[in-house]
Amino acid sequence: MMKLEGLEAVEAGSPEYTGAPVGMLAELTYRCPLQCPYCSNPLEMDRVDTELTTAEWRDVMRQAGELGVLQVHLSGGEPTVRQDFEEILDAAVKADIYTNLITSGVTLTHERLERMVKIGLDHVQLSIHDTDPANAERISAYKGGAEKKREVAHWVKELGLPLTINIVVHRQNIENVPAMIDYAVEAGAGRIEVAHTQYYGWALRNFAALIPTREKFYESIRITDAARERLKGILFFDVVAHDHYAVRPKPCIGGWARRFLNITPSGKILPCHACETIPGLEIDNVRSRPLADTWFNGQAFQRFRGTAWMKEPCRSCERREIDWGGCRCQALTITGDAADADPACVLSPWHKEFAALAERESHKPPPAFIYRHMRAPRSATTQGQYYGAAVTTKP
Ligand code: SF4
Ligand code: FES
Repeated sequence: MMKLEGLEAVEAGSPEYTGAPVGMLAELTYRCPLQCPYCSNPLEMDRVDTELTTAEWRDVMRQAGELGVLQVHLSGGEPTVRQDFEEILDAAVKADIYTNLITSGVTLTHERLERMVKIGLDHVQLSIHDTDPANAERISAYKGGAEKKREVAHWVKELGLPLTINIVVHRQNIENVPAMIDYAVEAGAGRIEVAHTQYYGWALRNFAALIPTREKFYESIRITDAARERLKGILFFDVVAHDHYAVRPKPCIGGWARRFLNITPSGKILPCHACETIPGLEIDNVRSRPLADTWFNGQAFQRFRGTAWMKEPCRSCERREIDWGGCRCQALTITGDAADADPACVLSPWHKEFAALAERESHKPPPAFIYRHMRAPRSATTQGQYYGAAVTTKP
């Protein structure tokens, strides 16, 4: 691992200290054949003609290895629509980084997956939309997807790779959480991610169509907890809880610029995949600044690292080095200031209305999905406008 340039004066153990990032999310492209209503790609997507070339991605992997990154998550969009995926994977393997393919599976062939295994792919994370094929196809707006995913899960196991099943949970599939857990076990997965929808970017446009009631959410948590007990040693559970019904926030991205970094298709180096809407962040690019220098010294990485930036109530809170104030992007969306406490926290003056909005919307009939497709107007709704109209009680 290289020297911690610029951070040598910061003592290990202090909140400002950080070593190398554990994980790197490499968003190889935003292109995707699906149209999920909770798409996590930014509202303003990098254009296809600005995507990093094969050689540039290979160099990013080399730099990440030198920096000490342990895992790379090869993601998108759908990363396998890049025909040079295998070449980029090869560079990550050569850089001695653990490689995880995050895929919807629908564009994969057995031949390609076999080739990836030969190159050295370590792990596959496959997303499913529901166990009911008709509902899964309705959510993803992709015909034949459910069947193809079962096939891909089978190939992954047949080729001897560890498998994670990822499900994004919302009001239109929450009844099937038990069936989705069974699906993961039957598919031979060793890990399941039960990720309740996070409302940034496109998901905000579908807030009312996706938000479950508090009762349904807690019921799903009880089911997941019981399954975790029952399936100990068989299936590992990773649960991302629902923010609106939380009492304290999650340590989003493991704390700002502490464990993860993100590279966009056009090479932007981000502390968080959704942070581009935060005003005042100076975003560097792999085309003009080395990865290590950006991680340690980049303005965007320093902006919310540690605790010095915090305002009350976080500044004097005993949990400030546990959840790091929660999510900066959600704070910005709700309060207009990314340095505020995450409104998922009961100590935030915004929390009451934040939770009440979810209660109100979740009890109304769900509106139709607004699908995410490449032809959709890119900036018809900017982050926060939905809440801006709905959260009216400014503390
Ligand atoms: Fe976390 Fe801030 Fe809430 Fe304390 S006040 S629990 S640090 S979000
Ligand atoms: Fe950006 Fe949480 S999504 S900090």
